Amino acid sequence: MRRFLLTALALSFAAGAFAQKSPGLADTPQMGWNSWHFFNSNINERIVMETADAMVESGLRDAGYIYVCIDDCWSQGRDSLGFLVCDSTRYPHGIKYMADYVHSKGMKFGIYNAANFKTCAGFEGSYGHEYQDAITYADWGVDYLKYDWCGAVRNPMGAYRLMGDAIASTGRPIFYSIADGGEHEPWLWAKDIGHSWRTYTDLLVAEGFDGGTGSVLDCLDHQEGLRKYAGPGHWNDPDMLTVGIKMSENEDRAHFTMWCMLAAPLMLGNDVRNMSKSTKEILMNSDAIAIDQDSLGIQGMKVRSENGLEYWFKPLKGGDWAFTILNRSTETKKTIVDWNTLVFSDPISRMSTEFDRKVYEYTDIWTKKKGNTKKALKLAIPGHDVFAVRLSLKK
Ligand code: GLA
Repeated sequence: MRRFLLTALALSFAAGAFAQKSPGLADTPQMGWNSWHFFNSNINERIVMETADAMVESGLRDAGYIYVCIDDCWSQGRDSLGFLVCDSTRYPHGIKYMADYVHSKGMKFGIYNAANFKTCAGFEGSYGHEYQDAITYADWGVDYLKYDWCGAVRNPMGAYRLMGDAIASTGRPIFYSIADGGEHEPWLWAKDIGHSWRTYTDLLVAEGFDGGTGSVLDCLDHQEGLRKYAGPGHWNDPDMLTVGIKMSENEDRAHFTMWCMLAAPLMLGNDVRNMSKSTKEILMNSDAIAIDQDSLGIQGMKVRSENGLEYWFKPLKGGDWAFTILNRSTETKKTIVDWNTLVFSDPISRMSTEFDRKVYEYTDIWTKKKGNTKKALKLAIPGHDVFAVRLSLKK
């Protein structure tokens, strides 16, 4: 095996320059689970396998969440030939064993590393071992690489391209998630390198919905101006979801809805082995997921902000629109939606709402109530919650 890997490594160096990133893996934003938000460093083989089981039993896999990803803290250094070795206490049967198990459940397996000598939590990084690590991942059956930055001192575009070329040269389709925390404005250069890129700092469970840096609202606010960079094959990543960990039900609903409006990757961060009924209902709301996964692949936009309420629209395939009002405040807010004041054209999709000329039918994503845009709509939206509908033209 070693000899095979070393030969493959040499061949990759010879042939691997500027390989294309794997196509077709990110036609819509990726959906799955990642260990970091809930488990942090307290993660092991048993939890990963139980998570895979729970994703099948709960219906998450069938709702579209197909990647099961371990984050930081999995390695134990390198062997005498420089190959990564996993922590044998956390992962006694090795990484391939877990990947095989996840595959046997009809899902895909993801791993984490960083472009520095060490990962952010101080484990073995990939700097100087890119092709060797890519071959190792392909050999283990890895389908997804989250590649962090962690304070590396090197050229970011070059470093990310190098790892991207390395994984592409293995011939295994591997989703490539660029995760530099938005530090190097990857939206300006990563379109052809990775399948998604982080846009901002970590979403922090402890900051909740409206805390300081890293709260849901803070991360949402830092997506301003980025929608033009995302699209099928290359997505803005405002970080993984914290639904079902610490926030209230309405905050979870609002967080999930807004990430769908952003066409964000839907990477679950909670313990899916222990989910409340409401967490399941939020994460498996097929109307919300359909907005995120819409094949037009155009991120939503904020068109109005007043009195603590934000009005967001996302153009959808076939002339539909997703429309969300986010209540940022903690109090219930009353508002009247006068459709005629929401007539606008979106320069990216080239779609126009034309509420002055057209009547849309709508279905509320959460309550399933139906209505149309003939008359103004009176609403009372609870604090830290959303009103969200899908608008379709009358057929
Ligand atoms: C960084 C990333 C997080 C997580 C940790 C792991 O902070 O942004 O998502 O991967 O590293 O150490």
